[in-house]
Amino acid sequence: METRFLSFDHVRLAVHVAGRGPVAILIHGYPLDHRLWLDALRGPLAAARTLVAVDLRGHGLSPWCGDPVHAMDLFADDVAAVAHTIADEPVDVVGLSMGGYVAQALWARHPELVRSLALVDTRARADDEAAKAGRDAAMRTVVEQGRSAIAAVMLPKLLAPCPAGDPSGLLLRARVSSMIEGTVVETIVADLRGLRERPDRTGMLPTIAVPALVVAGELDTIAPPAEAHAMAAAIPGARCVVVPRAGHLVPIEDPASFARELGRFWGAMG
Ligand code: MLT
Repeated sequence: METRFLSFDHVRLAVHVAGRGPVAILIHGYPLDHRLWLDALRGPLAAARTLVAVDLRGHGLSPWCGDPVHAMDLFADDVAAVAHTIADEPVDVVGLSMGGYVAQALWARHPELVRSLALVDTRARADDEAAKAGRDAAMRTVVEQGRSAIAAVMLPKLLAPCPAGDPSGLLLRARVSSMIEGTVVETIVADLRGLRERPDRTGMLPTIAVPALVVAGELDTIAPPAEAHAMAAAIPGARCVVVPRAGHLVPIEDPASFARELGRFWGAMG
């Protein structure tokens, strides 16, 4: 895997590249970074695509740029700039959760850059009033108590339950915690503001005119399978896959199933 830094105006973005063939851009969720995709970057998908895992601004190795709000459109324009720099043809886009909101914003703003869409553990609907109140509470938690407090609140929602003391479950929790705790407070607050104000994309789904795959974890409570089925039903020709026993982070909870399903999807595109 090779890390490159791309600069656009005052924005400096890290991208992590592995593999060969047509470009696929991988967009992580909140408040994570490219390490969400490490299993994918090191696995069989790299034989089918040049995998480009982006660190969204303020995440991973991409510095926070001073923006008080990380709107999904802002992130989508950054991803568009990456696509323009790295590829000379439309790219396959894979977005997990917040990355899926960004992927949908990319389709809304730059459809000519998108060859296919894989929407993973994500939703099309906007936050309702209860969810917005949850974002406000999370902002207070991170500002007043710090990143380990937000990690403690989020971990049980992100990962499916595992038996007490199970070593692989503990390792997974440590991997996710280290991503959350490595994200600066300013980024977490800006993300939460962007998530809170993101638009409803439900009405846009029928306009998606490229091959689409929707993936959900069976035990995901943030983006439950019922929501994934509804999204796939609204996108012409889309397929929905529910991964058994996984929670909200399918690519690291069940990397083999994730690689198999994404590989099949890309394979069927020819
Ligand atoms: C994510 O994983 O990106 C977040 O859970 C998205 C959200 O909270 O809506």
